Formats: sequence, structure tokens, C-alpha cells
Amino acid sequence: TPDDAVVLTETRGHVGLITLNRPKQLNALNDALMDALGAALKAFDADPAIGCMVVTGSDKAFAAGADISAMAKKTFPASYTEDFITRNWEAMMQIRKPVIAAVRGFALGGGCELAMMCDLIVAADNAQFGQPEIKLGIIPGAGGTQRLTRAVGKAKAMDLILTGRMMDALEAERSGLVARVVPLQQTLDEAVAMAETMAGFSQPSVLMAKESVNRAFESSLSEGLRFERRLFQSLFATADQKEGMAAFLEKRKPLFTNK
Ligand code: CAA
Repeated sequence: TPDDAVVLTETRGHVGLITLNRPKQLNALNDALMDALGAALKAFDADPAIGCMVVTGSDKAFAAGADISAMAKKTFPASYTEDFITRNWEAMMQIRKPVIAAVRGFALGGGCELAMMCDLIVAADNAQFGQPEIKLGIIPGAGGTQRLTRAVGKAKAMDLILTGRMMDALEAERSGLVARVVPLQQTLDEAVAMAETMAGFSQPSVLMAKESVNRAFESSLSEGLRFERRLFQSLFATADQKEGMAAFLEKRKPLFTNK
């Protein structure tokens, strides 16, 4: 990755680590950054050596939102014709391997929305979440009103979105927005270790588990249960199911081959 890249990538074991890298702008999200993030995620998703991805920022900011300087003069026709937000923000929805957001510092506006587009959030104890768009005369535009409401319920979502206040890591965990809260210095290691655990399982089962959980947000309970059951049944066609269960019965570690 070149020195001035807005997104840095590296691999740690079977984990693809993606670092948002506009520290002076608190990782404000512009087109260049979102294009680079989408490309990095797609590349890791296609790499057979990688089983899971972690997206992170700096100690101070995961991302402080969409880049206000790039948005300030935007018109409706321009934002509509260029498909502002959808064009390069929803690339993440196509990623099939798990994506963990390791959030340190600010995750505001589009930064909070980006974290919520990941499969789960590991938060540092200094994390601050919020949807402050209302203070700018707009509303969240990358899923904030929808994903935050599904994650924390109507009361907290209305509170955060209508006042623009920030919520700290403990409140976010209590509210169901984040999976774990970790001391700042350990946050990235914890997220990478979690990703390595996921990368160690049979990939078909991991992809199907992610797909099935996401289905819960798109379907009725009976349709979701039917979807889950078909995926569950299909996994009995894999060699890894035979291996996983044989290993348990033989009291040894399984050797998964992703087949
Ligand atoms: N866009 C562009 N630049 C930003 C930015 C953003 N969202 N957030 C911070 N920056 C820039 C600041 O302008 C500042 O630049 P300069 O040094 O050139 O002045 C630099 O980052 C450091 O920021 P501060 O000096 O403000 O740092 P702070 O520690 O005093 O405050 C903060 C931190 C509370 C996060 C504050 O920066 C802030 O409120 N940022 C804006 C948050 C926001 O409103 N986000 C929502 C954007 S709208 C959106 O995201 C729409 C959507 O739904 C997609």
C-alpha cells in the first residue's frame, strides 16, 4: 500500500486487516476512501487464504462521518444522479465473509453507519457512537435510521438521531449495538483474534451462518426459519461436517478443508 493511501491493508494470519487512513480528518469518509475500502474488502473476500476481515480506524476515530467538506455544496440533482451513498457505500453488502468493525474513538454519522454495515462491532472503551446529522440540517443517509433502530430499538434510536448526542461504549453495549467492549490498547488484537477464530472454522458454514443471521432482518420468522433449515440441511453435504463431527467423537481437533 502506498504511504499516502486513504486505506491501508495487511494480513494477519488468515485475517484481512483494513485501516481507514485519513487521520487528520478523523477518517471522514469521501469517495476515494469508500472506493478503496470497497476494493480492499472485495479483494480479501476473493482471497482463499483469508477467512475474515477487520475494519478499523485510528485510536481517536473509527470515522467521524461522511466528509462534510465534500458534501457542503452538493445539490439534489447531483446527489441523485451520482447515486450518492449507494454507489460506493453498499459494496459491503456484497461481502460474504464476516467483517468485524474494531471501533476506537469516534464513530459518528456515516462512521456509525459504516460500523453497523459490518457484521459486528468490537468497541474500545473510548468509543463514541452517534448520528449527529440533524445538527447539519440533514438526516442519516447510509442506513442510520434503519440499522440503528433495528440494533437498539425505537426509543434509543429516536433519542440519538433527534438530539445528535453521542453514546459511549458501555451504553452502546447495553443497548445491543456492540458485541464486546475492550480496553483501548487491546481492541485491535481482540478483534483480530475473534476474526482468526471465525477464519478457523469451515468456510461454507461460516458464510451460511452470516447469510442466515442477515436474513433475519429481511424476512418473516417462518421464512427465515425455512431459509435457515435449508442451509443447515445442505451442510450435511460437506466433508467438513463429517470431519467436524468425527473429530468431536474421536476427541481430536477437526481439520477443515472448506469442502
Ligand atoms: N467531515 C470533514 N471533516 C471532518 C469531519 C467530517 N465529518 N469530522 C472531523 N473533520 C475534520 C475537522 O474539520 C478538523 O479539520 P481541521 O483540522 O482541518 O480543522 C479535523 O477533522 C479534526 O476535527 P476537530 O478539530 O473537530 O476535532 P475535535 O476532537 O475537536 O472534535 C468531533 C471531534 C466531535 C468528531 C468533530 O470533529 C465533529 O463533530 N465532526 C463532525 C461529525 C459529524 O457531523 N458527522 C456526520 C457527518 S454527516 C454524515 O455522515 C451523513 C451520512 O449519514 C452519510
